[in-house]
Amino acid sequence: MPTALILGASSDIGLAIARKFAQEGYDIQLGTRDPAAISSTQSDLSIRFNIRCSLHQFDADRTASHEFFFTQLNPSPEITVYCIGYMSQGKEMEDSWEETEKIISANYTGAVSILNIVSRKYASQKKGTIVGISSVAGERGRQSNFIYGSAKAGFSTYLSGLRNWLYPFGVHVITVKPGFVYTKMTENLDLPSLLTASPEEVGRAVYSASLKKKNTVYVKAIWRWIMLIIKFVPEPVFKKLKL
Ligand SMILES: NC(=O)c1ccc[n+]([C@@H]2O[C@H](COP(=O)([O-])OP(=O)(O)OC[C@H]3O[C@@H](n4cnc5c(N)ncnc54)[C@H](OP(=O)(O)O)[C@@H]3O)[C@@H](O)[C@H]2O)c1
Repeated sequence: MPTALILGASSDIGLAIARKFAQEGYDIQLGTRDPAAISSTQSDLSIRFNIRCSLHQFDADRTASHEFFFTQLNPSPEITVYCIGYMSQGKEMEDSWEETEKIISANYTGAVSILNIVSRKYASQKKGTIVGISSVAGERGRQSNFIYGSAKAGFSTYLSGLRNWLYPFGVHVITVKPGFVYTKMTENLDLPSLLTASPEEVGRAVYSASLKKKNTVYVKAIWRWIMLIIKFVPEPVFKKLKL
């Protein structure tokens, strides 16, 4: 049985990805800051899908622990999904530096720290798949969330470079840009239903992308065209918009 490691397994999207891979017969390793909080998920996945499912403590901010975290996984996973993210619930420019650092760490530095370790292992064994859940917010900075967006931009660029670096080793990297998704992260936002995916749609899109070896995935295809238009708005106009 192949094994999938889901980092950020307590998230709605992470859980949906774990369920989809479990349904397809993968054994699952759930990485989260508080494993006890998702012990019911562990038993549900193992019983429902008759697979092995284990819980592992993982904190993106504690980069010094990442090497040990990954090397003690047994078996070493064939696919690693980085689903961790953090978005300010207030106005980013009014946040403390501590809050700002949490955004940068969860969405960028923590990801680079663990995925560098995973990548070196996958390169040495000449196989493996890495999935990063990034965001369309990284495609152009907007006043409402440009710290989150810039961390996601850094993450998308990192994943693109990683894909290029790992290609000769036969290791595949997928960048996922979900658009809006109904989750805990967005529960206070009024989201347009036509542009908003369910976590289950993200799960299916990630699984399908791993089979088809896709590079960049927009979960709802319309987002590719929306972002194309947004990127073409001239800066003198864009800077006056309230987005
Ligand atoms: N919802 C959307 O519209 C949307 C759109 C585009 C991209 N995304 C991305 O999708 C991913 C999943 O988000 P979601 O919407 O499902 O939100 P969510 O339910 O709020 O999940 C966020 C996850 O990140 C984890 N996390 C945060 N900081 C962490 C840290 N320092 N170390 C370890 N884990 C940490 C949380 O764990 P705890 O339970 O321990 O807090 C939780 O599992 C994120 O990368 C997010 O940026 C979401």
